[in-house]
Amino acid sequence: MPSSKHIVVANWKMNKLPSQAKPLVAEILMSYLKKNSDLIVCPPYTHLANISANKIISGFYLGAQNMSEFESGAHTGEISADMLLDLGCTHVIIGHSERRMMSEKENIIIPQKISLALQKGLKVIYCCGENLESRESKQEETFVSNQLKNDLYHLENLDKIIIAYEPIWAIGTGKTATSDQAEAMHAFIRQTLSEKYSNSDQVKILYGGSVKASNASEFAKKENINGVLVGGASLIPVDFIEIIEAFNS
Ligand code: 13P
Repeated sequence: MPSSKHIVVANWKMNKLPSQAKPLVAEILMSYLKKNSDLIVCPPYTHLANISANKIISGFYLGAQNMSEFESGAHTGEISADMLLDLGCTHVIIGHSERRMMSEKENIIIPQKISLALQKGLKVIYCCGENLESRESKQEETFVSNQLKNDLYHLENLDKIIIAYEPIWAIGTGKTATSDQAEAMHAFIRQTLSEKYSNSDQVKILYGGSVKASNASEFAKKENINGVLVGGASLIPVDFIEIIEAFNS
């Protein structure tokens, strides 16, 4: 099993204004200090400079929600790994289902993005998870193992990879996977990875999808759930702090 330290990630998605980032982070940090879990906050790109420049990044890690597969150049509207590093980011989310759904191309370039992020020194929060159709036809394991093989198997090791299992049907829907369903999938992911990687037992696997203050402690009890990736509830400090607390014991 990985070290007992849990990871709690806030994915703000496209919410809050840059000017609201500092007070939101400050409120969360007041309660987070001295906790026994790692906290990673992933605001929109436009908020990164504000958080970084205000020197409030100590106490938690700063992450981005995506990055370009290219190093630099004529790629209008894109953000590079170097830009993220320059702003103090240590982590980047890659493969979120909301991005995979935006374009077919995203699925193809995920391995390239992961390699570039790692080469540059960013840690990757890699997202996988099945759609409703796969879950209902009991094909969820095949769906997820195909994602793992397509997206990760070019890597020699998983040292700087955090995996986030986010079933698509549970994201932003209020319909969460049960802690037993999540635990079963996490165990399956670990087992699948063990066929290729000798230290798969050290990989942190987070659950994401309608995690709330009211259900976080159920996930926290599970052996293979090493933390959570939180969307909506990470924008409400009182709820998010309760989620952090659940993963602190
Ligand atoms: P919600 O917590 O809003 O369901 O979002 C989950 C998610 O997509 C985090 O990346």
